[in-house]
Amino acid sequence: MTIQWFPGHMTKARRQIQEKLKLIDVVIELIDARLPLSSRNPMIDEILQEKPRMIVMNKADLADPEVTKQWVEYFKKEGVTAFPIDAYSGYGVKDIPNQAKLLLKEKIDRQIAKGMNPRAIRALIVGIPNVGKSTLINRLAGRNIAATGDRPGVTKGQQWIKVGSEMELLDTPGILWPKFEDQNVGYRLAVTGAIKEEILNVEDVAFFAVKYLSQYYWPQMAERFDLQKRPQDFENPDEIVEVMEAIGRKRGCIMSGGRIDLEKASLIFLRELRAGKLGRISIEAPY
Ligand code: G4P
Repeated sequence: MTIQWFPGHMTKARRQIQEKLKLIDVVIELIDARLPLSSRNPMIDEILQEKPRMIVMNKADLADPEVTKQWVEYFKKEGVTAFPIDAYSGYGVKDIPNQAKLLLKEKIDRQIAKGMNPRAIRALIVGIPNVGKSTLINRLAGRNIAATGDRPGVTKGQQWIKVGSEMELLDTPGILWPKFEDQNVGYRLAVTGAIKEEILNVEDVAFFAVKYLSQYYWPQMAERFDLQKRPQDFENPDEIVEVMEAIGRKRGCIMSGGRIDLEKASLIFLRELRAGKLGRISIEAPY
């Protein structure tokens, strides 16, 4: 579900998260492992301030494992704990309470030294729409809690969900807006389906993806669509369109007169890419 973000929405979303921050000890910032920076909120540091935080890279099942490793290193250099998970299958999800404990270790140790019994760590999940917040909440809770596609502005009573004996999670996630200033960010989000095609032209989105994959994942492209001719100059649009046409031909997207139906070819290509048919692909790399 795509949310239309207006300045008023952003202010409201930000205020809602800042209210929730008062209740919690640690933030779980959920991003998409395939496009880590593009799936972050541009003002996240300012919004979270000094609150302890971990970056959780979801949908790692769809991302290129080598590139994911590079991203983990990238965030480590930035001084932030980041690790991949797959909220769908549950891979890596157990690390979340463990990392929360590590992040709060000093505070917990101080409480113990004073003879206090530390209470459960309180956590909040934040992230842009479609990144998998509801799926992760349900996975951590071990049951169906949040309605997928939660929208800002829809308020309901907040509740704490127990995650084991040492962590509690707010049942409503913080929803943030993605970056808008860079057109490539929009394309990357659209490639994954986080932004619907009606917002950006489907052929433009497919063009962006075909160009990126021809550059970095040619063997997978060639095998899936029986492609013979790799573009020589990736900045030459004609060569990218030739690849799109070859994909269309392979998938039978032919119009009367033998012309290739590029729109149909684009839709099919994006559908197969999102479904993981081309293998594990990342569309943003740190270096
Ligand atoms: P949100 O609350 O952040 O908006 O996201 P939500 O949990 O609704 O997840 C958005 C989509 O991403 C859902 O797919 C969900 O199944 C999928 N998803 C979440 N986590 C993962 C993951 O780790 N790996 C993969 N491959 N997919 C994940 P959908 O198409 O909207 O719904 P459905 O296919 O589950 O019916």
